[in-house]
Amino acid sequence: MKNGQIWQDIEGNHIQAHGGCIIEHRGTYYWYGEHKGAPNCPGKERVDVIGVSCYSSPDLLSWKYEGLVLSADQENPSSPLHTSRVLERPKVVYHEKNHCFILWMHLDSEDYTYAGAGIAVSGTPTGPFVFQGVSQPNRQDARDMTVFVDEDGTAYLVHSKDWNKTLNIARLNADYTAPDGMYVSVMADQEREAPALCRHNGLYYMVTSGCTGWQPNSALYATSSHIMGRWKLIDNPCEGENYRQTFGGQSACIFRAGNRHFLMLDHWIPDNLQKSGYSILPIEFGPDGSMTVRWKSEWRGIEKSTSD
Ligand code: DGJ
Repeated sequence: MKNGQIWQDIEGNHIQAHGGCIIEHRGTYYWYGEHKGAPNCPGKERVDVIGVSCYSSPDLLSWKYEGLVLSADQENPSSPLHTSRVLERPKVVYHEKNHCFILWMHLDSEDYTYAGAGIAVSGTPTGPFVFQGVSQPNRQDARDMTVFVDEDGTAYLVHSKDWNKTLNIARLNADYTAPDGMYVSVMADQEREAPALCRHNGLYYMVTSGCTGWQPNSALYATSSHIMGRWKLIDNPCEGENYRQTFGGQSACIFRAGNRHFLMLDHWIPDNLQKSGYSILPIEFGPDGSMTVRWKSEWRGIEKSTSD
């Protein structure tokens, strides 16, 4: 699969899973994302909401379409899932004790002024997810977001707030279904979005993008020794051609496969969003705690990439 380009599923159809996440469950990888498989609305850099798609794979290379696990509401204009609104950056995590999958997503009005976090739950990875509602976590605006589950099983919703000026890390309740009231604001006024997190050797890492709409910009990574502690912005982790523009992409998620972490990017095509591409790049961690993401023109799946 050529990094930066649109990818195909095993039936030869374009994979529609933008702004997404990849999780592993019982030996199978599941990729959830925004289904943008329709032409842009005339004159706009948007596609009406279709829903959250799911693909499954044994090797992160051959992807089987599992369908929409959460569909847009085509009937009710006041539904938070109505086609005329915004559904972005769906993130799914598995709750080990409750044996269920929790989907968090950015839900918004077309003009992005509502800025809420929606939630849906399913007993199986391939859904259907049942929509539970939408709200503003800790009464704060929420746009780009991700969910991070720590090694002790505690989950955190990480979201841009204050019109994307600052990021919040909001601890979730034991069921991962709502914030528990504890949160910290980090990287204040640094205007970061598209957060993607991981933990390696006891250090927390967060990759973010700048705020330039669908246009690429320079990624930055930050580290902290405590998830709700002080985060330190370090630098752009990217190395290689077009590194200053994150290779033309924007962080979607970090996932773990085997003993390695990978950064997934969206390569947005603003005037034809359904043709936006993807890349998956291995993350290298230095002994000094540094993070490097080198450009590779091809994604060769789990077998080849974990042995690189
Ligand atoms: C950048 C965000 O990261 C995307 O998820 C999307 O909201 C676009 N902005 C919209 O311009």
